Amino acid sequence: MTIRLAPSILSADFAELGRDIAAAERGGADLIHVDVMDGHFVPNITIGPPVVRAIKRVARVPLDVHLMISEPDRYLDDFIEAGAAMVSVHVEVLPHLHRTIHYIKSRGAQAGVVLNPSTPVVAIENVAGDVDFVLVMSVNPGFGGQTFIPRSLEKIRAVRALLDSAGNRAPIEVDGGVDLQTVGAVVSSGAEILVAGSAIFGGRQPEQAARSLKEAALGAATARART
Ligand code: DX5
Ligand code: ZN
Repeated sequence: MTIRLAPSILSADFAELGRDIAAAERGGADLIHVDVMDGHFVPNITIGPPVVRAIKRVARVPLDVHLMISEPDRYLDDFIEAGAAMVSVHVEVLPHLHRTIHYIKSRGAQAGVVLNPSTPVVAIENVAGDVDFVLVMSVNPGFGGQTFIPRSLEKIRAVRALLDSAGNRAPIEVDGGVDLQTVGAVVSSGAEILVAGSAIFGGRQPEQAARSLKEAALGAATARART
């Protein structure tokens, strides 16, 4: 497995995004996770394509854009043109998920599908061979700093089994409540891309926090490989 750390800027200082992104990158960030919220699909409102474009100018690692919006199809071009290398969309809002996935790929970005905590894995059964990654939400989307939902571990294992049965080595990303306490179990269950917001930007030393979290994740991955 290949571990990648994706700090979520949702918990960063929005007036100092460049500074905070650089710190996370020094600490070992492999991606920058960008949470887009519309106040409709989720209760919160965050940022749009102009901010993604600005982040793209300063980030040295690829941008992983998580669309928590009701009509993602309308905005895919805008976010990809703004610099998103990975785009994830929620299955709960997409009646034509297969078409959306292939549209994202046709525009040169990696396509991910996201499952809310209450959404069953079967919802992605028929696109398991099509996706570039699957994002398992381990909190209800909308806010940073929430508590990890333990049942998510079982879901990570079920998604891994589904992807394997489809012959797809696509990685699983986990988002919500990932910190030094939970990251070991998350990785042991099969997740490879780890989103963390408050665990990295919630304190005063994002560089050190990113480094510690990545070391813990890599340690868990090594232990998993031995079993
Ligand atoms: C939640 C967002 C997450 C959030 C995670 O809706 O999708 O990416 O930033 O924050 P933490 O790591 O604090 O749970
Ligand atoms: Zn997210």
